[in-house]
Amino acid sequence: MYDLAIARILHIVGVILWIGGVAFVTTVLLPTVKQFKSKEERIDFFEKAEHRFARQARLTTLLVGLTGFHMVARLNMWERFLDISYWWMHLMVLIWLIFTILLFVLEPLFLHKKMREKAEIDPEGTYRRVYKMHLHLFILSIITIIGAAAGSHGWLFF
Ligand code: HEM
Repeated sequence: MYDLAIARILHIVGVILWIGGVAFVTTVLLPTVKQFKSKEERIDFFEKAEHRFARQARLTTLLVGLTGFHMVARLNMWERFLDISYWWMHLMVLIWLIFTILLFVLEPLFLHKKMREKAEIDPEGTYRRVYKMHLHLFILSIITIIGAAAGSHGWLFF
């Protein structure tokens, strides 16, 4: 059956669109927004752009999670989670969980409102925090991709 190949293709396409978007926001969008003169314009533009990206990210997070768990279940890989050589499997699930909570719970509930309030009081500090959060998630995602691409082709590092 081709379901495993299809799941892998969709998993990789999902990861590219999702983490590629995180890369764009971190390395292009946020540094550009920082150069905006007016602070109001800065937060308005960033929120509009990230709001659009959040919609796509919700879809791709769902796709990556479904295809990932399909592969784990079909190939009965559950025991990998008990073996530290498969640290990248743990990282994949961790990244997925962080984004799922951020995009499906925290952002719609209060993150959006809280960021706006904080940006009014302390625009520089808020920008720094938002940038740092994106940078950390981006770095962790790249480490995960390296581990997963190597690991699923037999190179487990240790
Ligand atoms: C619920 C979350 C996830 C699950 C259950 C999951 C599961 C899997 C599984 C089972 C594989 C195949 C492993 C193998 O063939 O040995 C895989 C491959 C992969 N995953 Fe995930 N994954 C998840 C999230 C992610 C995330 C968030 C990323 C990126 C940050 C990611 C990136 C990759 C990459 C790059 C591969 C390698 C594809 C290849 O080279 O063939 N995954 N994933």
